[in-house]
Amino acid sequence: MFKHLSAVPGDPLLALIIAHRNDPNPKKIDLGVGVYKDDNGNTPVLNSVKKAEAILLQQEDSKSYLGINGAPEFATVIQELLLGKESTIIQDKRIFSAQTPGGTGALKVAADFIGANLPNPRIWVSDPTWGNHLPIFRSAGLNIETYPYYDPETNGIRFDDMIATLKAQAKAGDTILLHACCHNPTGVDLSFSQWEAITTLVKEKGMLPLVDAAYQGFGDGLDEDMAGLRHMASIIPNMLICNSFSKNFGIYRERCGGLSIIAETSEEASNAYSIIGLAIRANYSMPPAHGAAVVYTIMNDPDLKAEWTDEVSSMRNRINTLRSKLVEKLASTDVKKDFSFIRAQRGMFSYSGLTLEQVRTLRSEYSIYIADTGRMNIAGITDENIDYLCDAIATVVG
Ligand code: LMR
Repeated sequence: MFKHLSAVPGDPLLALIIAHRNDPNPKKIDLGVGVYKDDNGNTPVLNSVKKAEAILLQQEDSKSYLGINGAPEFATVIQELLLGKESTIIQDKRIFSAQTPGGTGALKVAADFIGANLPNPRIWVSDPTWGNHLPIFRSAGLNIETYPYYDPETNGIRFDDMIATLKAQAKAGDTILLHACCHNPTGVDLSFSQWEAITTLVKEKGMLPLVDAAYQGFGDGLDEDMAGLRHMASIIPNMLICNSFSKNFGIYRERCGGLSIIAETSEEASNAYSIIGLAIRANYSMPPAHGAAVVYTIMNDPDLKAEWTDEVSSMRNRINTLRSKLVEKLASTDVKKDFSFIRAQRGMFSYSGLTLEQVRTLRSEYSIYIADTGRMNIAGITDENIDYLCDAIATVVG
């Protein structure tokens, strides 16, 4: 039955985890997969999460199924985090949200919903985008188009090309994927005025925005990071938002995220949401409970919420401080390349500009694990490994 099948290489990013784990070099550095690490190189359980889990251990009284959309009260947590407590979209009940297994689960359901229900299942994604976006959208039968995004010459955004391409080629009913903040893989975000310009274009064209919000809180702040999305939602009547709690609550393995749909009227949103329920049922039936229960417990306890907000701030500040340290240390070596652009990037990642050859040499000669694209997880840098890292980069880059 399976004789005709040959092995395929796994996801290259996840393969890096294994390669790093199996590397005996005590100086090895993991700058691969997007997981926050502290200065000891650990991915700790947040204190707020530990406390919420202690509460849940006492209070949880059933392991029975949640509904298809998860715990109903959790929807409010998702919506208020994304749009802000005062949002009229929430007050007008134009948004419905389902608890999903991670942001990935949300993206898969959103893609299935688009593929099965929109007359034109075509989606525009940034060049580049998160590696897993493509297989998720392909598996739902969407036609994928790319719009120009990252400019390796300036380490900024090819914004004029992005707008020109969409103006010339996008059609009414097309979906456009945007990263709310902390663009993965580049770390280069749209400015607010660029969000405004894209919003105008999306409206003119009659496109559907699908916003991926996986790193809320890791850029400039929990509310600040949603400014572009909130502006767009105030102008564009229909929207899908996929968000993840993996990073900002550090609950990666609990698989907790949300899929939200906004429509012109509450009735339209409710109808579409019922169809989203079918896609959920066909994918994984119902979401896991624990991660969402933790998030809900934290967000409904003022002390825990304050503690969590501080913990998110300290993760964000550590990463932004590391960006500056990295730029300074690299500048103090005799490396010829100017890496100062890293300081302006946001979120866990930096597109470093390192070539595939340089990345491979760093891996084979120095046990430094960076994604093939040159994407580095800045959070993997520590005070202990930063000198070794910068010297190795300087040697390899020349
Ligand atoms: C990443 O891009 O490293 C993260 O989003 C983790 C993943 O699943 O790829």
